[in-house]
Amino acid sequence: MSKNLLEMQGISKAFPGVQALSGVQFDLNEGEVHALLGENGAGKSTLMKILTGIYQKDAGTIKYQGKEIEIPNTKAAQGLGISIIHQELNLAPHLTVAQNIFIGREPKNFLNLFLDEKELNNRAKKLFARLNVNLDPRELVGNLSVAKQQMVEISKALSFDSKVLIMDEPTAALTDTEIDALFVMIRKLRQDGVGIVYISHRMEELKKITDRVSIMRDGTYVGTINTKDATIDQIISMMVGRKIDNNQKPIISQQSREKVLEVKGLNRGKAIKDVSFELYKGEIVGFAGLMGAGRTEVARALFGADPIDSGEIHIKGQKVNINSPTDAVQNGIGYLSEDRKQFGLLVGMDVKTNVAIATMKDYLKPLGFMNSSKIHQQSEEMIKKLRIKTPSGNQLVKNLSGGNQQKVVIGKWLTRDSDILIFDEPTRGIDIGAKDEIYRLLNELAEQGKSIIMISSELPEVLRLSHRIVVMCEGRITGELKNDEKASQESIMALATKRIG
Ligand SMILES: Nc1ncnc2c1ncn2[C@@H]1O[C@H](COP(=O)(O)OP(=O)(O)OP(=O)(O)O)[C@@H](O)[C@H]1O
Ligand SMILES: [Mg+2]
Repeated sequence: MSKNLLEMQGISKAFPGVQALSGVQFDLNEGEVHALLGENGAGKSTLMKILTGIYQKDAGTIKYQGKEIEIPNTKAAQGLGISIIHQELNLAPHLTVAQNIFIGREPKNFLNLFLDEKELNNRAKKLFARLNVNLDPRELVGNLSVAKQQMVEISKALSFDSKVLIMDEPTAALTDTEIDALFVMIRKLRQDGVGIVYISHRMEELKKITDRVSIMRDGTYVGTINTKDATIDQIISMMVGRKIDNNQKPIISQQSREKVLEVKGLNRGKAIKDVSFELYKGEIVGFAGLMGAGRTEVARALFGADPIDSGEIHIKGQKVNINSPTDAVQNGIGYLSEDRKQFGLLVGMDVKTNVAIATMKDYLKPLGFMNSSKIHQQSEEMIKKLRIKTPSGNQLVKNLSGGNQQKVVIGKWLTRDSDILIFDEPTRGIDIGAKDEIYRLLNELAEQGKSIIMISSELPEVLRLSHRIVVMCEGRITGELKNDEKASQESIMALATKRIG
């Protein structure tokens, strides 16, 4: 029997207008991976923020190695050996990788006055060697992809000698190979006796890596089961308290032959090489490929976020110049970016404003006054449609759970009347029930005549939604598949790994 490390009992926590947790329990043994599951807004992150001293519980007890303790702040948690990889990336973009990892514990030299940059980088190098990750300590974090930033977060958490390690959706932005590398790390930590709390919306990971799963729903504790005794269906029904249609067959509607977008010979450095494709009215084109294949780069170029070296973009037969996101929006292109904060959310503003912001001008009355009842009505509609968990449209976005923040970004682009919508990993971090809603919505949009480019690393999702699948590898389009019987995960993967020149 492994030793009990941690025990939380009767934990409650309220925020204004929200009972985030009521009487929740959770326990963790040495050397186990214990999954914490639940729909968006169930209270997972809040419970773990209490354990790491970010929030204070209103009621309940926490026992650590058999003794009842209080965790008044994050320093106290670190002192106890409890560390967390946050769901939201918390890195400082203007600092280097090494500076981010050792922030607040930097080595000093010469009378303790100057930061010893060399020593800092050396320590980081040693850490990366130990963890087997490929990162340059001197690189600015702001230059890294979301996946790499996640690796920095993970390395940072592992740089503390932790007894308890909490991972809040660590794989959300990672590729399969990166996930495999992470699992190797997790197994090693488990051997060393570290207790790991694992939060994820990816059901297929549970069997691979977890020993037990605990399920929460609406701020309450539902139950705990041994992973080997559980079925995924059982876990899902405990999570959502209702049945979900989890079948994988494509929901594909009719399409027209009206060409909406034509991209010709797009080039940008090494990231985009001679990319040409077409998009028709009412069509969903899935962009598949491995991380770094150039899909996000193509999306960013179409949205005017990065300049292109050469190539042409035609919209409804007209050649257009897109030099900025404003140009793109004016040409009817919407972009749900993979990095939600960049073109996504104003986290300091309320839900209502965020939903309305992409269409602000539509809400202006003559003389420039805001039509607040229209904004209210639209945002209420979105909250209902996407099942955004919030006390009202007036809640600040930063107070929503991670998955619900995502739904707000989606709501924002759905409200806007764009003809061409680019969704970059639309369901990342979204719970399994809400995923279904999003699939339905994308399908509805296509039926209404919108044209959609959907970038997704989840092949079942690509196969389920796309009319056509464009596959990229190393900046090039390596193939295009009609989504018929012949399209499969294997045929996509073959193209995704096909190197040309
Ligand atoms: N600082 C805060 N102020 C107000 N409400 C909050 C705050 N933090 C969390 N909440 C609310 O508490 C509830 C639980 O949120 P939490 O972030 O714990 O969910 P979660 O299970 O982690 O969801 P997800 O899967 O989307 O990350 C949500 O309704 C959320 O809006
Ligand atoms: Mg969360």
